[in-house]
Order: sequence, then structure tokens, then C-alpha cells
Amino acid sequence: MNNLNKKPIRSRRYLFEGEGSNPSLKFKATYLRCLAWRIPHLILKLFLKGIGLFEQGYKNALNVKLRNREIKVARLPIELEGLRVLFMSDLHFEENPELTDVLVDTISQTKVDLCLFGGDFQRDRRKFLDPAIQGMKRIVDAVEAPLGFYAVLGNHDTIELVPELERIGVRVLMNESIKLESKSSPFYVVGVDDPFYFKFDDIEKAFENVPENSFKIFLSHTPDLYESAKGKGVNFYLCGHTHHGQIHFPFIGPLLLHSLSPKEMGMGEWLYENMAGFTGPGVGTSGVPVRFRCPPEITLMELKSGQNE
Ligand SMILES: [Fe+2]
Repeated sequence: MNNLNKKPIRSRRYLFEGEGSNPSLKFKATYLRCLAWRIPHLILKLFLKGIGLFEQGYKNALNVKLRNREIKVARLPIELEGLRVLFMSDLHFEENPELTDVLVDTISQTKVDLCLFGGDFQRDRRKFLDPAIQGMKRIVDAVEAPLGFYAVLGNHDTIELVPELERIGVRVLMNESIKLESKSSPFYVVGVDDPFYFKFDDIEKAFENVPENSFKIFLSHTPDLYESAKGKGVNFYLCGHTHHGQIHFPFIGPLLLHSLSPKEMGMGEWLYENMAGFTGPGVGTSGVPVRFRCPPEITLMELKSGQNE
């Protein structure tokens, strides 16, 4: 079922990034745009330190909890009733070195049917991959998921991560699908490459082997593809990236979600026509390693047949 030893697929991402040591001009330009965000992040960090709130925000960011959610999904086959899915996104392992121990303690010996990752394992694309690979290996060892571990890449991840993740048993869906089966009922997990900074998503290619009437879980780094996913008959859309803003102000909520989708799709459970969706708040942080009124979350979902059609 899982071909963990295959070479990474030469997606548009591969062509765009080049062979790692020789990235294209377009990649360099996009990377510079990402670097520009460091200035407001530094200002915010200095401001929080100046007013004495940084330490509290850092502590809040480490307070990772496993949250159980019952997700109502339309057209759920009866055999998949109660399917248990563990979901994590935006781990950004390098940002907070203490996070891995906390999250491994939190999920240790968790038993689910399958485990999905919404991308952004890395934080700084320039750095080596070790924190992400070591962290992911510990997660894979800690969780029992007989249907497997599947991931998509986010805008902070590099192509070099793909073979490393697959080596430890995490299949990366690069505009691809995988057919799974539970209690003799087949279903598909379909994943696209990063649709945000690098726009490597190719939804047509991702769905090319997926039968129209099958049950489909769609994995994307961001919620931005909700319309095209609906057009492909997706039943459940899973994503992250927004971190729910990391800082929620009273009466205002988050200032920025870095998403083109409507705000309600950038935070938590949502519904688009009869397609259920969930945008996780993320496990880690990026920019400034703090959270206020916006806790990190590892999500344990149980799929239930819904009335949403
Ligand atoms: Fe992201």
C-alpha cells in the first residue's frame, strides 16, 4: 500500500527549487519576501520583552494539549463511522526546542486509525533538517496508526524533507492521492503541495486517480483551496497554516491569518456547502514563539456521519 522507499516525485516544487543547493531565481525572490517578515516579527518580540509579556507568551506556546473533536461529515460510509484521525500541523520544530518533548509526552501511546500532518515541519528553510526529522521520528514511534502516516508540505518546508520523512514512514503527498481501506470500505486521502508562498498545488493532478463517488479526505497546507476542493467532491478538508493568528486580542481576535479564504475557514471547524473542514491552530509557532488566548493543539478527530447536505 505505501511505497515508502520511492524517490520524491518531481513536482513543480522540485523544478522550482532546483536541486537544493542551486535554487531558481523565482525561489530566491520568494524567499526574500519571506525574510522581509522578520522585521515586524523582531519588533513584536522586542515589544513583548519590553512590556514583560514575552515569557508568559512563550509558556503559553508550550502548553500543547490533545483535543478531541467529533467531526460531522456528509456521505460518510457506515464502515468509516468513528474513524479516528490524529492531526498535527505547523510543528516548526526549530522555533522552539522544548516543544518536541512536550508533544511526544502528550501523544505517547495514542491509538488512532491514521495520522495526518498539514505541513510546516521546518521554520527556517536555510537550516539543516535535523530538528524536523528527529522530532517526526519520535512522533511516529509514539503513535499507533495502522493505516499510516501522511503529510503535505507547507510554505516553510524544503524539498529535501520529502525523502527524509518517507524514510521514517511518513508518506508525503505531492499532488497525489492514496487509497486506504477501513473495515473493507475504501477511501482516499488526497494531498497537494504548498498552495501559499510557492503555489505548487496541482489539484487536477492530485485527483487524477480518485473515483468521483469515493469518500475523500483532502489535505492541504492552507484552507485557500476550498472552492476547487468542493468541485472535486471532497468530503472533509483538513489544513493548518494560519496558527489562528497566535495572538487573539479581546473583542478583535487575530490580526492576521495569512490566508485568502474567509476568516471563518481560517480558524477551527467550518462548513462549505456540504464539505466539512477543519483548520488547526497549529502545534508550534512561527515568527515570534509566543501565543496569547490562542492555544496550540494536537487534534484527535472522530468522524461521524453528518446532516450537512
Ligand atoms: Fe505555513
